[in-house]
Amino acid sequence: MTPRRAFEVFLTAPPGLELALKDEAQAAGFAKPKATPGGVRFRGHWPDVWRANLALRGAGRVLARVARFQAMHLDQLEARTREIGWTDLLRPDVPVTVEATTRKSKIYHQGAAAERVARAIHHVTGAPLEGENPVRIQLRIEDNQCLLSLDTSGAPLHRRGQKPFVGKAPIRETLAALFLRQCGYTGTEPVLDPMCGSGTFLLEAAEIALGRAPGRDRSFAFERFANFDASAWQDLKGGQTDTRTTLHFHGSDRDAGAVAGARSNAATAGLGDLITILHHAVSDLQHPDGPPGLVMVNPPYGTRIGERKQLFGLYGALGKTFAERFTGWRVGLVTTDAGLANATALPFTDPGPPVAHGGLRITLWQTGPLP
Ligand SMILES: C[S@@+](CC[C@H](N)C(=O)[O-])C[C@H]1O[C@@H](n2cnc3c(N)ncnc32)[C@H](O)[C@@H]1O
Repeated sequence: MTPRRAFEVFLTAPPGLELALKDEAQAAGFAKPKATPGGVRFRGHWPDVWRANLALRGAGRVLARVARFQAMHLDQLEARTREIGWTDLLRPDVPVTVEATTRKSKIYHQGAAAERVARAIHHVTGAPLEGENPVRIQLRIEDNQCLLSLDTSGAPLHRRGQKPFVGKAPIRETLAALFLRQCGYTGTEPVLDPMCGSGTFLLEAAEIALGRAPGRDRSFAFERFANFDASAWQDLKGGQTDTRTTLHFHGSDRDAGAVAGARSNAATAGLGDLITILHHAVSDLQHPDGPPGLVMVNPPYGTRIGERKQLFGLYGALGKTFAERFTGWRVGLVTTDAGLANATALPFTDPGPPVAHGGLRITLWQTGPLP
């Protein structure tokens, strides 16, 4: 992979949200992104990889596809891996680790496959195979076809680097951003979350309104690659100023700890003036001043036995509050359970596809503007 030649970039997405991520990549100006199971691919260059990490809210990781080849046995895998231009990519002082999966292939031992690739890379670059914070290389073998990818992100991209309080059952930032996008949110209307927990929906929505890059406060694996251009990266990152907005974002929760945590998250992100978090139960929720916008909420799911019954009452009360007090607002509700969503009696359109999240399958339910 010479630096000048375009290569395949793969953005990982939770299954079910590939199309939303494709839309985001398209809107961000990446060339002809295509949704495929588990993510979105497009052809690009290294500055595209850096910008995707910096700017996309919905991608879980950004992978650079380094090579594809056929290998029928381990010696062949090792030999082909040695032929790749690793020295353009990896530094001799940065440790690497290889993760392998194999399916329907002559090479079936994942551990052995990973070891051979690691050995080949070490042979070519001198990069240590042990050490803190290694660069991750992925090997996928399917039908004897090997695909080698570099994880250019490092820590997963939902770790934005500016949210100290995590809360009890937070939604991942990347999912929150994609659900907001699926609700048509573009940063031009207020958002309200009456069960805001750590405030993820509000933080994402406010940042979208300000046009901020989600990756501005964190580091990435690609900063330790051989081809990293620190000054081009600074040019890409630098000079960003917030878009002016008069919008306001409203959160509340009945849990005092969540309220304190969400407030501190908003303050840490420099969003204290834009986001108000109140301490009350959803039954005390009032319509905020200002224009209508989007209610975005993920209520408790009730995965434990016995909880589900109680939750019918809670979802019913939630739906009643919106129906009575939120004329003109749209609702986006994320939950695991169609029965609970229906208990709100809100006029939902067809639900989105189920999305894997922390061992659960969650679904977005949406309404148009409430009558
Ligand atoms: C699944 S969590 C929401 C997580 C949040 N989206 C985040 O990213 O951190 C559900 C939240 O609903 C709150 N909650 C439960 N019952 C409530 C009620 N009756 N009124 C207000 N908040 C409630 C809980 O305290 C919890 O913070």
